[in-house]
Amino acid sequence: MRIDIVSIFPEYLRPLELSLIGRAAGSGGPLQLQVHDLRDWTDDPHRTVDDSPAGGGAGMVMRPDIWGRALDDVLGAPAPPTDSTPDQPHRTVLAIPTPSGMPLTQRTVEDLATADHLVIACGRYEGIDARVAEHYSERMETIEFSLGDYVLNGGEVAALALVEAVARLLPGVVGNPESLEEESHGAAGLLEYPVYTRPIQWRGHEVPEVLLGGHHARIARWRRDRALERTAARRPDLLAALAPEQVYPDDRGTLAPLGWGVTATGPVPLRVRPARPDDAARLSSVASATFPLACPPELDAEAIAEFIAAHLTRERFEEYLADSERYLVLAGEMGGEIAGYTLSVLPRSAGEAPYAADVAEVVGERPAAELSKIYVLPEYHGSGLARTLLTETLRVLGGVRIEGEPLAVVWLGTNARNRRAQKFYAAAGFERRGRRTFQVGGREMNDAVWARPPLESAPRAVAD
Ligand code: ADE
Repeated sequence: MRIDIVSIFPEYLRPLELSLIGRAAGSGGPLQLQVHDLRDWTDDPHRTVDDSPAGGGAGMVMRPDIWGRALDDVLGAPAPPTDSTPDQPHRTVLAIPTPSGMPLTQRTVEDLATADHLVIACGRYEGIDARVAEHYSERMETIEFSLGDYVLNGGEVAALALVEAVARLLPGVVGNPESLEEESHGAAGLLEYPVYTRPIQWRGHEVPEVLLGGHHARIARWRRDRALERTAARRPDLLAALAPEQVYPDDRGTLAPLGWGVTATGPVPLRVRPARPDDAARLSSVASATFPLACPPELDAEAIAEFIAAHLTRERFEEYLADSERYLVLAGEMGGEIAGYTLSVLPRSAGEAPYAADVAEVVGERPAAELSKIYVLPEYHGSGLARTLLTETLRVLGGVRIEGEPLAVVWLGTNARNRRAQKFYAAAGFERRGRRTFQVGGREMNDAVWARPPLESAPRAVAD
């Protein structure tokens, strides 16, 4: 590849003689690099390259006639012979750094690394007369790029950055091409995990133990989790842009506590919050859509409809939401829309027994709250939402005080034959206590009763 840089400060680009880029640009290397002084194309004794802005205003603008002469010459310079074919002809790109350009990304850099000839035009002052970019973009591939949302004094630093980013992708420049794969902005779409070396102890900070154990699968998982965490904290835009196939099933457990659920379209923000009175209609529709799916197959549609009409209407939710001493309703949002909820029933007094005698028998601790519903729309099953709803509910219940006493236990009943549910509660630390019978639309159902203490948390108002 050939790179030409045109600048009024050619000395500024001397660092390109150093390090890997310098070596790549040495004789026999994959890069031919030439830096040119724009003033060589001036024709007055003062070697003037700028003039005052048309229309007035501060600063000076670089003249198009000088740039035109310089670029015509440099673009016409012979680039290294390539095996160009009619399908892939010789490719020359003019790159103009400017704060008003498109943000430079690794994708652009990867694309530019396939060109044969790259010419970089470094502006100074208020920039280059706009007709220069206009003229060349009509005749050849031209990009105006920005390093970021800040203003530099000129394009030279951006040119250095571009050359370094492009040149390291040329074959033979970076010693170990594997190091290109997992790096930030690579194919994974995530920021890179943190890296460490010896000494293992340094100023009270240790290299994470997992990296010293030699267990490759564990190290890979740890690195992936750190990459997800970093990306969630620093570049949520990158997480949101991940394609579904870039997210692995094992990522869900890491992403959910970071506030991200995984859907068919990729990651979306996941949030659990106390439900508000104006959520009643949406909660009712989520409940009505999910309840039938949790019912055993022998339950007929009429019985299910009867239950929904009695317990899962908007009016019933309005009642729940109006009585925060009795009910705790948490809404689970995916991408800003309620996709699941939990409904917990609190005792009105510390000694109040669970309403069903068969439950009271196997759940003896008091005060006892019932986790009555935890429902997630089917399209969000496996997204991490149910898990986060459950954890957050147990945490909020941990802060509840009944007559000054913290809850001793949270219990729930779930269809004894729903294996998925049983596994889910067992994994969340619930213990199976026994059975209870439960009426749905006049039919008697057999439920397993599970219980566990709430998660410890500071006392807090349920409705905050
Ligand atoms: N020239 C001045 N500021 C710049 C920026 N942010 N990116 C590229 N070129 C520039």
